Amino acid sequence: MGIRIIGTGRCIPEKILNNADLERMVDTSDEWIVTRTGIKERHIAESDQTSSDMAAVAAQNALENAGITADMIDLIIVSTVTPDHPFPSTSALVQRKIGAPKCPCFDIEAACSGFLYALNTAYGMMASPLGYKRVLVIGAEKMTSLVDWSDRSTCVLFGDGSAAVVLENDGDPDTPDFYVAGEVAADGSVSDILIVPGGGSACPPTVDSVNEKKHFIKMGGPKTFQLAVTSMVSACRNVLEKSGVDPQDVVWAIPHQANRRIIDAVANKLGIPEKVYLNVDRFGNTSSASIGICLDELNREGKIKKGDLILTASFGAGLTWAALLIRW
Ligand code: ACO
Repeated sequence: MGIRIIGTGRCIPEKILNNADLERMVDTSDEWIVTRTGIKERHIAESDQTSSDMAAVAAQNALENAGITADMIDLIIVSTVTPDHPFPSTSALVQRKIGAPKCPCFDIEAACSGFLYALNTAYGMMASPLGYKRVLVIGAEKMTSLVDWSDRSTCVLFGDGSAAVVLENDGDPDTPDFYVAGEVAADGSVSDILIVPGGGSACPPTVDSVNEKKHFIKMGGPKTFQLAVTSMVSACRNVLEKSGVDPQDVVWAIPHQANRRIIDAVANKLGIPEKVYLNVDRFGNTSSASIGICLDELNREGKIKKGDLILTASFGAGLTWAALLIRW
């Protein structure tokens, strides 16, 4: 088919919140956070900096990296759990901010798995009779807008940021697709373990709901941890089996950057710890931006070359999970 990733970009807010800062806010310690999560610092958006602002910057950087302009884009998909508004979609705001033509655009919400869900969706729409030629896929999250800064069990985990990739179908049947094999999955029976209870139609904002802190992340940490490991390992194994690729032929493994211990457990079970790319220490959990940020760092640092196989995997609220084997 000839569908490739031709550019990547990211937007990381300047402001850094490190573990010492958190020690002054809640009853925690750098030692606890690093040992349990591997996180040393995270970037925090300004109060007036929205998900669509960060998405637009990441998109512009990806377009520049691809050597194309916004008017050449014919579909925009944004993955986010922190849209600027319930509606319009964040992708519509991005379209306006980057000056893209009146192309279709929509948001995807699959929590931290959203970026891989979006890449799967984009690939399907490009390969279908819809035939989109150039597509922007963006993960953009202002996770700190959902964080309860008095809850030590969650506030140490999250950070803000955005990442984008440009996909292009060059129409050449001899060009191998970036998409080697993928899996997307979900189990709604455990939707309560990771939830923002308020703000939606189940619990519209009221003075009471705000006072009861229902608009913040609530998480069953240990259960999420356990499901994260089993789901990502099984998705990666399925994708490797479907593609017939030996794990040792993978050049980079990029797991969702939620927690260093989850990443280590997954990598050890797959037998490829030395292939793992890590930046959770610098960014914390940026939800659906995390895999794209890793890809952009590797791309811009010249650490991936044409043809390299990259195994990505993620899990998130829903519970959702996904894996995608990418050929660069
Ligand atoms: N500092 C100090 N102590 C803390 C902190 C903190 N920041 N947070 C919790 N503790 C305490 C707890 O209160 C508990 O104390 P107790 O034994 O006296 O009750 C103790 O530490 C152990 O708590 P656990 O929750 O059992 O700790 P655990 O080892 O499981 O680590 C963690 C907690 C890091 C949250 C882990 O469970 C985890 O990473 N889970 C997965 C989280 C995740 O990846 N979520 C993804 C969500 S993203 C999305 O989908 C939007």
